[in-house]
Amino acid sequence: GLVDGQGKYLFPGLVDVHVHLREPGFEDKEDIASGSRAAVRGGFTSIMAMANTSPVVDHRALAEFVLRQGQRAGKARVYTAAAVTKGLRGEELVEMMDLKEGGVSAFSDDGKGIQSAEMMRLALEYAKLTGLPVVAHCEDESLAAGGAIRKSETSARLGFKGIPAGSESVMVVRDVILAGETGGKLHIAHVSTKESVEAIRTGKARGLDITAEVNPYHLIFTCEDVTLTDTSYKVNPPLPSKEDQEALWQGILDGTIDMLATDHAPHTREEKARPFGEAPFGINGLETALAAVWQAFVAKGILSVEKLIELWSLNPARRFGWEAGTLKPGHPADMVLFDPERREVIDPAGMESRSVNTPYLGREMRGLPEMTWVAGKLVMKDRRVI
Ligand code: NCD
Ligand code: ZN
Ligand code: ZN
Repeated sequence: GLVDGQGKYLFPGLVDVHVHLREPGFEDKEDIASGSRAAVRGGFTSIMAMANTSPVVDHRALAEFVLRQGQRAGKARVYTAAAVTKGLRGEELVEMMDLKEGGVSAFSDDGKGIQSAEMMRLALEYAKLTGLPVVAHCEDESLAAGGAIRKSETSARLGFKGIPAGSESVMVVRDVILAGETGGKLHIAHVSTKESVEAIRTGKARGLDITAEVNPYHLIFTCEDVTLTDTSYKVNPPLPSKEDQEALWQGILDGTIDMLATDHAPHTREEKARPFGEAPFGINGLETALAAVWQAFVAKGILSVEKLIELWSLNPARRFGWEAGTLKPGHPADMVLFDPERREVIDPAGMESRSVNTPYLGREMRGLPEMTWVAGKLVMKDRRVI
């Protein structure tokens, strides 16, 4: 039937290259069906699952299982990254060619960053033969160990061992250098520091095959917003300083940062109810991220609608070789009808995700997707998944 779109936007479906769907192994947090339902409710029509499941997605049969589960769920298009190394242990590369034939879209060390420079170098070299990017988590564990939030005045005041910005930046610098030496395709996940942005900018100026994403929550919150009573502010990499946040904006505006990605990281209430220092890292993203960016930036004229679509649909689809997300003549459309005025209180009862670890819980958000189509099929209507 006809849809009244008066006062609303028709977007190409949003593309989120960084989600944790937790299946197999952690289905109490999320599974592929619930995660892909959360995606279309949040306006995302294509998502890429990370490999830090149990077992790890490090062989073809399991990658094919993930893709099959995504198809069975029949909501968002579910793509998957494979692990870079077996078991994410950082010791032995996966069978990259076989995994590519199994349909994976990238190789990633997300959740357990590769520590050895030699292993990252090999990963870039071999991934290059498959044509797929390496998605790098970029965390030096020797610097980050024991920290819960960004090393800052806040971490000192709260009595935490802080995570220094350098634990990320040194790895980004390393990986940019290795991308240069190998000619490999590199995508940097969840960039959160000034020095990381600078390294990526330099690498791009040298013509290297590098892209980068920013987690929207790193643009909205800083380490100063962290309160010990709300562990949903605990995320990896940790919320940045104001200065880092400004550098992320610069990176977005000058094209150094190519895309936004939610890093949807669901965790159970029980896990997030632990004391701040012991709760797991991660923010639930899929159902709140678009509204969060809309109300914080687009509604205020800080980010244009065109740039939003570039960052969250066109650029990610292009980087990972997916047609979906873009509106192309002759292609079954992935679309979102977005209502900039629609308001909703974020309520666990209405959420499709199995987890509710978001700082927006109980808060009203403004600007929400109203209908979502995947491959021409209506999958979400009036805030409810069909
Ligand atoms: C992610 C997770 O929970 O798997 N957590 C997070 O804080 N981002 C892991 C990751 O993205 O590194
Ligand atoms: Zn990560
Ligand atoms: Zn992640």
